[in-house]
Amino acid sequence: MSAPRITVLGTGYLGATHAVCMAALGFEVLGMDVDKAKVEALAAGQLPFYEPGLDTLLVEQLATGRLRFTTSYAEVAEFGDVHFIGVGTPQKPGENAADMRYVDAVVDGLAPHLTRPCLIAGKSTVPVGTAERLADRVAELAPAGADAELCWNPEFLREGFAVEDTLHPDRLVFGVRSEKAEQTLREVYATPIGEGTPVVVTDFATAQLVKVAANSFLATKISFINAMAEVCEAAGGNVVTLADAIGYDARIGRRFLNAGLGFGGGCLPKDIRAFMARAGELGAGEALTFLQEVDAINMRRRTRTVDLAKELLGGTVLGARVAVLGAAFKPDSDDVRDSPALAVAASLQLQGAQVVVYDPEANANAKRVFPTLRCVDSATEAITGADVILHLTEWKEFRELDPVQVATMVEQRNIVDGRNALDVDAWRGAGWHYRSLGRP
Ligand code: UDX
Repeated sequence: MSAPRITVLGTGYLGATHAVCMAALGFEVLGMDVDKAKVEALAAGQLPFYEPGLDTLLVEQLATGRLRFTTSYAEVAEFGDVHFIGVGTPQKPGENAADMRYVDAVVDGLAPHLTRPCLIAGKSTVPVGTAERLADRVAELAPAGADAELCWNPEFLREGFAVEDTLHPDRLVFGVRSEKAEQTLREVYATPIGEGTPVVVTDFATAQLVKVAANSFLATKISFINAMAEVCEAAGGNVVTLADAIGYDARIGRRFLNAGLGFGGGCLPKDIRAFMARAGELGAGEALTFLQEVDAINMRRRTRTVDLAKELLGGTVLGARVAVLGAAFKPDSDDVRDSPALAVAASLQLQGAQVVVYDPEANANAKRVFPTLRCVDSATEAITGADVILHLTEWKEFRELDPVQVATMVEQRNIVDGRNALDVDAWRGAGWHYRSLGRP
């Protein structure tokens, strides 16, 4: 039997990565997006976002002829045996719930064209119950009837490690209603992806819940250590040492225990909120009230970072020149969705500081969401003449700054390390007033 032909609907971080990686594994792949400009850029070998390694892989795969892009649902339906849905499920403006309009649009756009047997595999992070609802919708709309089946196959990739996570996932989760669907997914993943990778085969509800449970756990882990940072600040303890010490317990583990400015991005914040909203609808809201606290602890870190800058400047940032290093929500990404760094920069500017931001990749996105922000092209430009430096996204370039050299660019040696990622002794040794979150 020939290999299934694959389509990927939605070419954002998730979809584009999945499409390119599937082509790299030898499949014929058609990526689809309603955004014509995005499709044209991808087809020309240009990635619409920054993701290490994916840019070259895209160009390579286009050259093989196995990877193509389109804006047509009819073409997708005609071409594919397995259709992956990778569109976004952002937070609804002003609400906690996820906005399902893109997922719904994909199913409504694709299903009427499905005239031959195929599997639709949802990858997006969705409120539990969505897969069940979409399966009904497919049954209603697809001319192929029961031969067009739906399943849920959540994706766990991290930005910055998207290719690695896609090709070498920790686990695969198949939410299926038939053996045929399971077999098709096994066939797709019987590539190097599946070798030695645990496969969890389960029902729709569990498959959808695994994803939000995993992200809720990660968010909780970060907020736990940030809560400890708050206590360390009050008691004069050191949260980094504390994290090292508790992390040696294999049941706890050191990963995701980095205290600092907290989590942001297009996933963790909105996923915990959407999960609370959905649990509430299901009558299980009480089970997740702790996530409210996880969210609150996380947001408090932003205020605390602003306060540290104020403390260093004698109580106010009004008129002060503030260098903000980092705008992306984390290093190796140009994503500024719910970026803690950008939130801090915005808050300082609103309080009358002259903020100058530099991020190696995210300046353009930062300007787009916050047009009045001044972004510059280098760390040196941001730092020169600053009254205080805020280190908010731990790019390698910032971690490697030489405190002695940086001291020659400023009059006042004030630095807030929002990520606990700089060498305290080196900075203090060079005469800096160094403040961080959760360290004395
Ligand atoms: C996350 C999940 O890790 C991934 O599995 C899921 O599929 C999508 O959401 P991502 O949003 O790319 O991935 O970023 P992640 O690496 O998880 O970091 C999230 C945020 O937490 C970042 O803002 C990061 O700076 C912060 N973080 C992470 C901490 O503050 N401390 C840590 O110890 C780890």
